[in-house]
Amino acid sequence: MKPRVIVNCAMSADGKIASRLRKQVRISDEADMARVHRLRNLCDAILVGADTVVSDDPSLLVKDKYVDHVKQPVRVVLDSKCKIPAGSKVLDGTAETLVFVTRGHERELEGAEVIACGLDAIDLGGMLEVLGGKGVRTLLVEGGGKTIWSFVKAGLVDEFKVFIGSRIIGGESAPTPVDGEGFADEAEFRELKLVRTTLSESGILLEFEV
Ligand SMILES: NC(=O)c1ccc[n+]([C@@H]2O[C@H](COP(=O)([O-])OP(=O)(O)OC[C@H]3O[C@@H](n4cnc5c(N)ncnc54)[C@H](OP(=O)(O)O)[C@@H]3O)[C@@H](O)[C@H]2O)c1
Repeated sequence: MKPRVIVNCAMSADGKIASRLRKQVRISDEADMARVHRLRNLCDAILVGADTVVSDDPSLLVKDKYVDHVKQPVRVVLDSKCKIPAGSKVLDGTAETLVFVTRGHERELEGAEVIACGLDAIDLGGMLEVLGGKGVRTLLVEGGGKTIWSFVKAGLVDEFKVFIGSRIIGGESAPTPVDGEGFADEAEFRELKLVRTTLSESGILLEFEV
């Protein structure tokens, strides 16, 4: 069964998910951080693109200060050419990690299982099938913008959650929640249904279904 795909990200008041230096910046407030960790704990797997691993080196773990009974989700990285550095936190062995690569780029990577899926690009449908076969029912896609775009473009997103924080970052090259080439034709735009808004300490969470 195809896992349910939930996109969750945080953007500034002007719609950026990081600065033009493409380094992680704090956008969520403390209440939103707690929500994100509770959401992670409810999901079976968390996915990011390789560039997020390279630039931010996230651990993708659930922090026990936010959650009573921690159950670490499987960590998943989309990394066509298997470029993430040895020593990345996602490879530290504290939770299971799967690295999806394209065929011909399989290699031994300590701390992860490397899975080939797709020829020129990672086949997201095939990847979801593999995850489904491993018992993943809900997949949390946390970014970055290119990765979220590829899920949106493929029509694979079921829920879209975006926290809007109270900072302005600016910069035309700063990443946004959905980058890639984007849709040009209005007929292709994805329509969302707003199902909930939640005011936080310093921002607002918008939750949509697709
Ligand atoms: N605020 C937030 O919520 C948040 C969350 C996460 C990240 N970020 C920010 O996002 C920025 C990184 O975003 P990004 O858009 O540059 O990169 P990204 O989405 O993290 O990674 C993109 C890379 O993943 C690989 N990839 C493999 N398969 C893919 C597929 N099907 N679709 C898309 N990518 C695929 C590609 O590299 P290969 O071709 O080499 O495989 C691609 O260049 C950083 O600045 C980070 O701080 C913000």
